[in-house]
Amino acid sequence: KKADTISVLGTTYSTDEWTNATPTILEKTGRNLLHQHSHPLAILKELIFKEFPEFAHYDNISPVVSTYQNFDSLGFSEDHPGRSATDTYYINQKTLLRTHTSAHQLQLLAAGKQKDDQLLRLAKNRAAAPMNERFLVAADVYRRDEIDASHYPVFHQMEGVCTFSRAEVQDQLRQKALKDAGSGAHGAEAAASQQEGSVAKLSDTTEIGKDNPVQPEHTAEEAAFVAEHMKKMMNNMVVQILTKAVAAQKSTNDVASKEGRPEFPVRWIDAFFPFTSPSWEMEVFFQGEWLEICGCGVMKQSIMDDAGMSDRIGWAFGFGLERLAMLLFGIPDIRLFWSTDPRFTDQFAPDRINTFKQFSRHPACTKDVSFWLPTSDEFHENDLMDLVRETAGDLVEGVKLIDSFAHPKSGKTSRCYRINYCSMDRNVTNEEINAIQDHVRELMVNRLGVALR
Ligand code: PHE
Repeated sequence: KKADTISVLGTTYSTDEWTNATPTILEKTGRNLLHQHSHPLAILKELIFKEFPEFAHYDNISPVVSTYQNFDSLGFSEDHPGRSATDTYYINQKTLLRTHTSAHQLQLLAAGKQKDDQLLRLAKNRAAAPMNERFLVAADVYRRDEIDASHYPVFHQMEGVCTFSRAEVQDQLRQKALKDAGSGAHGAEAAASQQEGSVAKLSDTTEIGKDNPVQPEHTAEEAAFVAEHMKKMMNNMVVQILTKAVAAQKSTNDVASKEGRPEFPVRWIDAFFPFTSPSWEMEVFFQGEWLEICGCGVMKQSIMDDAGMSDRIGWAFGFGLERLAMLLFGIPDIRLFWSTDPRFTDQFAPDRINTFKQFSRHPACTKDVSFWLPTSDEFHENDLMDLVRETAGDLVEGVKLIDSFAHPKSGKTSRCYRINYCSMDRNVTNEEINAIQDHVRELMVNRLGVALR
């Protein structure tokens, strides 16, 4: 039985058959990790803000948005899987916990025209006016997902949006064409500027494939101009931050880098998002691995049109903060970000990247649960994930499918999940975990309609 209303951050909403936001999740909306100055996520946020001084900075926008903001305004199709209640936390059919910071793109762009001061006033560095033309939004985002060391149903993103007057872009393109014609293209100057940005091979970045097309509203040159600007900015940001991280680690373990200067190769993989085209996924090679850190692209012109900014063209990126923070600070488990244990929180200070020192790991306790899938209802794994979270809170470290088979005669499917319980700050007793596991089993029968084996 659902309550008729639920309250999020002091506002009451009516519930309906879409409502699936759990109390555990709703609690997280008030944690405000990005505002705790010594929290690794807040430190990273500030480092990124600093790299974009001429952008308006938002980190204060409520996670409760309309379905329109999160999906429709960005051109998500009616049947896009992201809309599904198995992936998204709904407050009700029309209201949800944002699944990405892109939910604020249209609203913030349009705030300029609509003189929406209430919204614009949330910007921190008001000197960056006009605050709807270039902005960053850092925020908590919510997605129903599996449970393991790198997935948590709440995480943080940084959205970047930068728009240009199309007339100005045309102007710059004309001037560049003149200059190239005069000096013989790829002259010494061009080579020098390529050298300078040696981390970014900008020549790769303008390649725009068939499956990743320039929008019909844009010329190829315009789109390339915007994409190059975006890639240069993102590249600079990432290099600045990783350089800081390497410097911090050097002082502790003396990591050698080539020619004394760290290098971070970057690559851009073609991607698809409903609200950008062309689109890319940015990956950085760091400590032996290609790390996928953000989606980005040239903003759909229809969004600019809807914002009353048809005369402008822009780029956007959406950057996950946890992944990078785990790397920079050497944080091994995503749950630690939510820890209030002073052995975690006291290790960090504003404007500093330092390597997390693991405090003793407490023994884990593992329980398996085997069951037959319901034959009438559909079974969604994420329902099980939420159920375990509701019952065990942050004592659950991972839930993994370890076996699945169909009975040859009955055709029924059996699954076995392994639940790993482990506290980050104390030893758990087998007794207490048994009680939790019993409760999980009971709820699985009652709520998910499975038959335990
Ligand atoms: N919002 C996208 C995501 O969460 C990332 C993105 C942002 C992609 C902006 C393109 C432009 O996956």
